[in-house]
Amino acid sequence: MRKKKQHPRSACARRTAGVTLDHAAPWYDWLAPLMTLGLEARLQRRVVAGLRTDRPMAALDVGCGTGTLTRQLHAAIPAGPGRRVVGLDAAEAMIAVARRKAAGREGLEFQAALAEELPHADGTFDRAISTFFFHHLNYDLKRRALAELWRILRPGGQAAILDVDIPYSWFGRLCAYSGYWLFRQPEIKENITGRLREALDAGPFRGHWRIASRHSGYLSLFELKKPETKKETT
Ligand SMILES: C[S@@+](CC[C@H](N)C(=O)[O-])C[C@H]1O[C@@H](n2cnc3c(N)ncnc32)[C@H](O)[C@@H]1O
Repeated sequence: MRKKKQHPRSACARRTAGVTLDHAAPWYDWLAPLMTLGLEARLQRRVVAGLRTDRPMAALDVGCGTGTLTRQLHAAIPAGPGRRVVGLDAAEAMIAVARRKAAGREGLEFQAALAEELPHADGTFDRAISTFFFHHLNYDLKRRALAELWRILRPGGQAAILDVDIPYSWFGRLCAYSGYWLFRQPEIKENITGRLREALDAGPFRGHWRIASRHSGYLSLFELKKPETKKETT
């Protein structure tokens, strides 16, 4: 595989081995719908629909990019005390765009931070989502980010991950391997060969995740749940 061009990275992005996208921030909103063959909006609606709630709650979008999905998540959670929606990305340029697009929305904030070192206390969030993010992490980081997701979810909390997974059709194989060759990203190949599933099984979510739906021959929507803690018996 040809050597990959190194793009400039913000200070936060330089702290991770994840594939960060400061350089893509100005055109990401044009490119993302093309990369998903126009399905991005429908897929995002599907992710948010799975986590819908009838009360204000706290939710986190990990690897949020320019925050398009974060804003949808915010809109889907009823307003009121306790509604707090946070979008987080390692690329400071992405966060700057997200903040601009979200200006004036109460209870919606964006942070430049790392998924593998979430700057939040245990049990802070009721919900967490992540789309097209885990194929930017190597196996070790996938495991660390999943452990962090578990930590920041409250018992009974839920998460949804939409990402590249083992292809199940010739079209899916074509899309998945084209992405791998186009971006020259070994992390994508890991997802294609099932390493995201392995990471889920190797950490605290073992036995607490399922594939809720499959899309386009190579994407999976994973649903994760952190069980309620058992009541103490005296
Ligand atoms: C393909 S974009 C996905 C953006 C958005 N979730 C979407 O669905 O359009 C992946 C994002 O992950 C971010 N990223 C990569 N490594 C990261 C890390 N270790 N922690 C947080 N974000 C990271 C990149 O900067 C990039 O914005």
